[in-house]
Amino acid sequence: MKILVIGGGGREHALVWKLSRDSTRPSLFCAPGNAGMAELAINVPISAEDVPTLVAWAKTNRPDLTIVGPEVPLCAGLVDQFEKEGLRVFGPCKAAAKLEGSKIFAKEVMDAAGVPTAKSQWFDDAPRAQRLVQQIFMKQKNAKVVIKADGLAAGKGVVVCNTVAEAMGAITEALVKKVFGSAGARVLVEEYLEGEEASVLALVDGEHVVMLSSAQDHKRAFDDDQGPNTGGMGAYSPAPIITPELERIIEREVFGPTLVELRKRGIVYKGVLYAGLMITKSGPKVLEFNCRFGDPETQVILPRIKGDLIPALEACIDGNLTPDLVRWKPQACVCVVAAADGYPGHYEKGMPIVGISEARSIPGVEVFHAGTKTCEFNVVVNGGRVLGITALKDTIAEAVDTAYKAVKCIRFSGMRFRSDIGARALKKS
Ligand code: AMP
Ligand code: GLY
Repeated sequence: MKILVIGGGGREHALVWKLSRDSTRPSLFCAPGNAGMAELAINVPISAEDVPTLVAWAKTNRPDLTIVGPEVPLCAGLVDQFEKEGLRVFGPCKAAAKLEGSKIFAKEVMDAAGVPTAKSQWFDDAPRAQRLVQQIFMKQKNAKVVIKADGLAAGKGVVVCNTVAEAMGAITEALVKKVFGSAGARVLVEEYLEGEEASVLALVDGEHVVMLSSAQDHKRAFDDDQGPNTGGMGAYSPAPIITPELERIIEREVFGPTLVELRKRGIVYKGVLYAGLMITKSGPKVLEFNCRFGDPETQVILPRIKGDLIPALEACIDGNLTPDLVRWKPQACVCVVAAADGYPGHYEKGMPIVGISEARSIPGVEVFHAGTKTCEFNVVVNGGRVLGITALKDTIAEAVDTAYKAVKCIRFSGMRFRSDIGARALKKS
């Protein structure tokens, strides 16, 4: 079996790593891949965002299955175009991917379906948005609001505002200065939710939902959730805050009604649906939907899946997904992201990385590559998030210890990582 994985981050390396262990031993291709993926697959030098060239490659090379990692090609309609060519592909069609591609569309769907989420209003006009913000801060002294660009903004489109000035500024950036281009042509002014965040992903075949084990990301750049938002600086799975009871509530109140509402609109969702949740005092509320596997969540979820992954992905495409297709190891998994100094802002590239083999020789450790490439036989830094150093162990405490032991083996100039990945889970265990 020939499989093409689209993307070149830690999530895609984890996917390729899992697929490479499948009992059918598929031959694997990645576009564009990274230095780690090149050890398990053939890298094809096509950007994950270059949909026409990906379609052309697939028409010639006829993969039996294509798995799409990032949101940009999904929202651009890659799945629709592959299907038009008779190619099997795992991921939602363009209309379904809009759940991530437009936060306003996602809100409309959630509100129509009665899915618990923060109250919000959308605007395409700065003075009206700013008037609402002023009213909120006048009514409540220590108010907070969240300003969100409607479209895809590479993780930079959400601003949690503690003051009226910050909120006015965020609205001006999006609607007047147009820093997000058309992605910020409309903004949501959203109620601030208090609580703990968790990521709950599910496989969906259009009708049936199979929830994946929970995970928790660490979005801020620095320890104690300080600093700017990033793509994610580390993760663990399972997330103790998501109890079995809460999992049932999330399936019943979030995934079920969302998919029913989409079907009412003639939209069939197939692939992974990722709910970013705030667990508030009054229950789980959706912060966002993503139409794909999470990154770094995938690095801690896939090592916990027992046996083959391909049958579950194929069942999503064929509409015959059943819970027995996904079985779990009882162990806990922790991933610490090693990032380049300056990330999520400007960072240097090209620095050699050492110690990956030493880290991998520790039992239970896997090192997933993200922004890496091979240069004159060296693995060098090629992105902001560089590696996901991951450990699978019997308990979360052992997984945290082992992951940090492995982190110590790895060095590159300017390497930065959070030293508190998993701390919340440890407090609960
Ligand atoms: P999003 O891309 O919508 O998940 O937002 C990015 C991050 O902003 C989330 O992971 C939260 O940390 C924060 N955030 C988004 N919406 C809210 C909200 N309504 N209340 C509090 N924090 C939020
Ligand atoms: N970990 C956040 C995301 O995948 O969007």
